[in-house]
Amino acid sequence: MAQHDNGGENAAAGSAVEKTEPRQVSSGTAVVSSDAIPNPGLPPHRLRVTDLDEAKEKQAARRVSTFFMLSIIGSAFAVVAYIVFPIVPGDPGSVRLNTLFLGLGITLGLLPIGLGAIYWAKALMNSEERIEARHSTRGTESTRAAAVEVFRLGNEESGFGRRSLIRNTLLGALVLTPIPAIAMFRDLAPAENPVELFKQTLWDKNTRLVRDPSGTPIKASDVTIGSVFHVVPEGLDEADHPLEEKAKAAVLLMRLNPADLNELDERKDWSYQGIVAYSKICTHVGCPVALYEQHTHHLLCPCHQSTFDVTNHCEVIFGPAKRPLPQLPITVDAEGYLIAQSDFTEPVGPSFWERSA
Ligand code: FES
Repeated sequence: MAQHDNGGENAAAGSAVEKTEPRQVSSGTAVVSSDAIPNPGLPPHRLRVTDLDEAKEKQAARRVSTFFMLSIIGSAFAVVAYIVFPIVPGDPGSVRLNTLFLGLGITLGLLPIGLGAIYWAKALMNSEERIEARHSTRGTESTRAAAVEVFRLGNEESGFGRRSLIRNTLLGALVLTPIPAIAMFRDLAPAENPVELFKQTLWDKNTRLVRDPSGTPIKASDVTIGSVFHVVPEGLDEADHPLEEKAKAAVLLMRLNPADLNELDERKDWSYQGIVAYSKICTHVGCPVALYEQHTHHLLCPCHQSTFDVTNHCEVIFGPAKRPLPQLPITVDAEGYLIAQSDFTEPVGPSFWERSA
């Protein structure tokens, strides 16, 4: 297809290339005016009911103050609740009450401020529409030259460029200044090898499985098909750091139809008549895997939705976890209570160590 430089012919052809002057756009120019969308203007200004009716305006003002009054009451309530419901060490009920009422008070203190401010702005503040034109952000040539001059003068007066010994030692000092902080942050990590810490839990040969939090031992006959038990090792409360130990040793216990279980050869004797025990600590970043779907036999981690298939040795079937939940080998003692055969055979929790190994 022929192309012509003649503007009239181009318009007639419809498919020819139109010649335009190159745009003069400097860097930092915010708006290119040559192809800007035409300003559609503002819609007609609509008056609000509070603009038209003085009684309504006063009513709106009272509503705004009511929100702020509510906030005052909420904040006072939070302080009173903090005093009236103190946290008593060793009493989880007191923690619950304190958190509940303090939270309610703080919510009541903050929420009405936001609601009041929104209502104030919408109903009473000036509703006039305004236009603010955008300006180029680039400085003028003289401002830019002045900035360069400031740097040049600073360099000349300080001798930064000339005095290489001072400059280099200063740079060395600045580079090394963060080193103590790095050392201090490194100290926040556990002194012991974290992999070893995750490898050892309170589970041991013959440790009974007990319900969390009652501490009641569990008989195999108590565990019906489809049920799930939250379990910890017996004697957890006597440990030096019960909470830390629980964070590693928490286990979920489920009973499935043995025919549904697809067990690995080396783990055939790790379950007991369809009862299996798996670490409750998600292998992604360590949240408790607390949701069990008895129809699908899936365990679900609520944090990032990793899903583990209990019928297939808890392999990951969805989500960011990269490793199955570790299985606790179990059996029963002479009285029929469920006991561990040993500790876990692999570290529980997040599998960062696999990547660093
Ligand atoms: S911690 Fe479980 S999926 Fe992220």
